[in-house]
Amino acid sequence: MQTTKLLYGGDYNPEQWLDRPDILAEDLDLMQKAHVNVVSLGMFSWSLLEPEEGVYHLDWLADIIHNLYQRGISTILATPSAARPAWMAHKYPEVRRVRADRVRELYNRRQNYCYTSPVYREKVRAIDRKLAERFGHDPAVILWHISNEMGGECHCPLCQAEFRRWLQRRYGTLDALNKAWNARFWSHDYTDWDQIESPAPQGENAVQGLTLDWKRFVSSRHIDFFKFERDCVRQLAPDARFTTNMMYRFHDIDYFQMAKEVDVVSWDCYPTWHKSTETVEQTALDTAMMHDLFYSLKGKPFLLMESTPTCANWQPISKQKKPGISMLAALQTVAHGADSVCYFQWRASRGAEEKFHGAVIGHDGRSDSRSFREAAGIGAALEELAAAAGTARPRQAAILHDWDNMWAIEGSSGPRNAGMGYWKELALHYNALSRAGIAVDFVDQTCSLEGYGLVVLPMAYLLRESFARAVCDFAQKGGTVVVTYWSGVVDESDLCRLGDTPYGLTKLLGLRRAEIDGMYDGETRRCVLASDRLQEVTHASTLCEVAALDEADPAEPLVLYGEDYFAGAPAVARHRYGGGRAYYLASRFEPAFYDAFYQVVAGKAGLASCRPAALPEGVLAVRRGELLFLQNCNTIPALLPGGDELPGYGTAVYKADGMVRVL
Ligand code: GLA
Ligand code: ZN
Repeated sequence: MQTTKLLYGGDYNPEQWLDRPDILAEDLDLMQKAHVNVVSLGMFSWSLLEPEEGVYHLDWLADIIHNLYQRGISTILATPSAARPAWMAHKYPEVRRVRADRVRELYNRRQNYCYTSPVYREKVRAIDRKLAERFGHDPAVILWHISNEMGGECHCPLCQAEFRRWLQRRYGTLDALNKAWNARFWSHDYTDWDQIESPAPQGENAVQGLTLDWKRFVSSRHIDFFKFERDCVRQLAPDARFTTNMMYRFHDIDYFQMAKEVDVVSWDCYPTWHKSTETVEQTALDTAMMHDLFYSLKGKPFLLMESTPTCANWQPISKQKKPGISMLAALQTVAHGADSVCYFQWRASRGAEEKFHGAVIGHDGRSDSRSFREAAGIGAALEELAAAAGTARPRQAAILHDWDNMWAIEGSSGPRNAGMGYWKELALHYNALSRAGIAVDFVDQTCSLEGYGLVVLPMAYLLRESFARAVCDFAQKGGTVVVTYWSGVVDESDLCRLGDTPYGLTKLLGLRRAEIDGMYDGETRRCVLASDRLQEVTHASTLCEVAALDEADPAEPLVLYGEDYFAGAPAVARHRYGGGRAYYLASRFEPAFYDAFYQVVAGKAGLASCRPAALPEGVLAVRRGELLFLQNCNTIPALLPGGDELPGYGTAVYKADGMVRVL
């Protein structure tokens, strides 16, 4: 795959239009007019590719691929495993998933195959081999897109047996497993591997070590299925490159693990713009956080595989992107490290579930529609920004985001079962750093911290010994660390750490957790400056951790709780450690607190902001390679340094030697 241009295009479903050659011909003209240079094909074509068992029809697909290629449009070719034909689901019931309540599904929808079923794997192998034989060496196919938005769980007998094998490999003996799960609790010791069942609403759901291992197992099944499909194609097409489309805040798959298996990370991005509860800047930051997460998975440019040109049809309310938002979002994607902007979908389907989903070409077929005109404008802009392709983002701050930790926090009970708000916590740190013009990566507990100046551990509840050590080393060598409440609580099996916590970090922080109090929604506690208790700093909410300072080498409290029985305990504390520093945040504070906090912390950590001084509120600054992007999330024009005006929702792109372009 080349990186000399930005890819632009999206999902194309010509299989729905084979009886309308006029429309297929028009698609080619309009794609060219919109500067489209890539399409994704085939993800939902299985019933046409193999209408009967063992009978394959690939000619129509070859024609489409080659007609596109003649017009300079390459193909990202999907394997069709996400949606199987009806004949298969009826003939082979084992390919249908079994739900957690142990009911096998009827034939329905998509993304609901059993990833363990040998029959399903055999059918997938056969169709993937046909596609690889035909297109594996075709220059028109630049990337293979395995399946579509993998996820969900299967609880069938085949998966139960596989789960037990997975546990045997992990623990070796039942004794080790019982210990790791603390199964003695409520007398749940297992005496035979066959007694172990996946969690179920009417079955086991209180052994949290089991729930955590089940999540790991399901994730590993998806990754195994991806590898299986990838290798089916690779056997016949050794030079092929692979991706699979990942999703927003997704829970089922450890994407850090998945990313090791793909050649390029890609994701599908569907923010709900124009919510009454959120500013455009907040929606943009939420989206930016995901772009940065997907960039971080490999520390390399990623692809935006899907986004809507106008609106989705599955959100609670389907709102149109207002004029200018599509351009703002597309350029933001590039600024955060994408080498593509792609849509779902090129042309709206006529019937079934997604007929009202936004598309570049709607049911009226017009090219003077707003969706087409905006899409064509974006295509032209991406051609101008071709030099951004393949370029890297700076390394400055890293936030820990770990699937294991997220699963463990969410599967645990107490101290707040009304929602721990893990993503909300991540966003508080991300938004403040981003608004300060600091580049943020996400790391998991196996990533290196090399090259970062600041590492943030928000709610690092499940903290591995090795990562705790790496964080201490990082500080020792001069790095700055921020650790929040509810960190270092359990080990990898969700067993509580014995002794002082945050486990492995008490010396770094100069304090230990004494207790943690849950706050009702809306309940807050005043926090005051340690040096002047009359000065209010912020309010604590959600969870208030009460810490005791280390007697030998105490942290310096900067902010104190100002009320409740824990008044006077540190809410924010700082501690020197080796050549670096560590900050401790005992609770969740108001967003403005983090803006002020990270201004100081990033400055002291020596991280240079890419944000020019005196930018108005609501203008975001992001650096990628040589380019600096300033994006105005306001509807009104913003005054830029130098006196230029940036229109509402406009983007200014600068190079080192000055402004390149306002888009
Ligand atoms: C997902 C799927 C697409 C389509 C879109 C609609 O991202 O991958 O096939 O259903 O959602 O938004
Ligand atoms: Zn199964």
